[in-house]
Amino acid sequence: MDKKKKGILDFRRMKAEGEKLTWLTAYDYPTATFEEAADIDMILVGDSMGNCVYGYQSGTLPVTMDMCIVHCQAIRRGAPNTHIMGDMPFGSYQTTPEDAVRNAVRFYKEAEVDSIKLEGGRRIVPMIKAIVDAGMVLCGHIGLTPQSTGQFGGYKAQGRTAEAALEVIKDARAVRDAGAAMLLLEAVTPEVGAFIAKDLDIPVYSIGAGIDCDGQLLIVSDVLGIWEAFKPKFVKRYAEIADLSVKALTEYVSDVRAGRFPEDIHCYKMIEGEAEKLEKLAREL
Ligand code: KIV
Repeated sequence: MDKKKKGILDFRRMKAEGEKLTWLTAYDYPTATFEEAADIDMILVGDSMGNCVYGYQSGTLPVTMDMCIVHCQAIRRGAPNTHIMGDMPFGSYQTTPEDAVRNAVRFYKEAEVDSIKLEGGRRIVPMIKAIVDAGMVLCGHIGLTPQSTGQFGGYKAQGRTAEAALEVIKDARAVRDAGAAMLLLEAVTPEVGAFIAKDLDIPVYSIGAGIDCDGQLLIVSDVLGIWEAFKPKFVKRYAEIADLSVKALTEYVSDVRAGRFPEDIHCYKMIEGEAEKLEKLAREL
């Protein structure tokens, strides 16, 4: 079957054949249509919307299930033939396995996602097992996990010493053993990325984990140059949309102030003869 027909991806075949998976975040309908047109394999409706869309000072932490569901629904409409992954926000899976399953189910029922992602290694194994046992496709996320940056002391690369790298590797194995279909590694050295991608039989994807992983994820706002507050080392910008937008909006403001907009081509036309008729009628008012 054509992989684009239903957003169904054979992750294990892709890994076995060395086919790199392409992956971006998206938060709104137009961006989803652009990404599907660009033939992206997978879209993450990330809780990074907390930074990139809502501008929360504390980043992802205030993002709620209801917000994620609404954004996932928009992405589903914009990219009907692409694999869509819902990102479980802070507080939606950390309490009990039952709570985690209930919230994961909401993504499938209310937003028709194809998979879900949650952050954490050994400490959330019971939640991973419960979600997988309920029949859902789950992506683990370890290394630098943005929902725990308070504990890491900020956005810092993980696993940079041999001992710290071993802890990341133990988390990776625990997530795999709990039944995850795939794993995302964030902000670890390429050595750690390469080791884990080789060590695990499930696909291991990278956001700042080096070239040897089975595919790459980036945040679309970073790629397009929309989010400018902070640029992690692993980001490559492919456009400068913020600069372009400010330039275009400044021109608009200046055109309106100077009376250069609107021009004739931006105006509706009266039906032939109606303007003269109106003038006459108005005089008689
Ligand atoms: O929310 C998100 O976009 C993420 C990425 C940072 C991996 O989880």
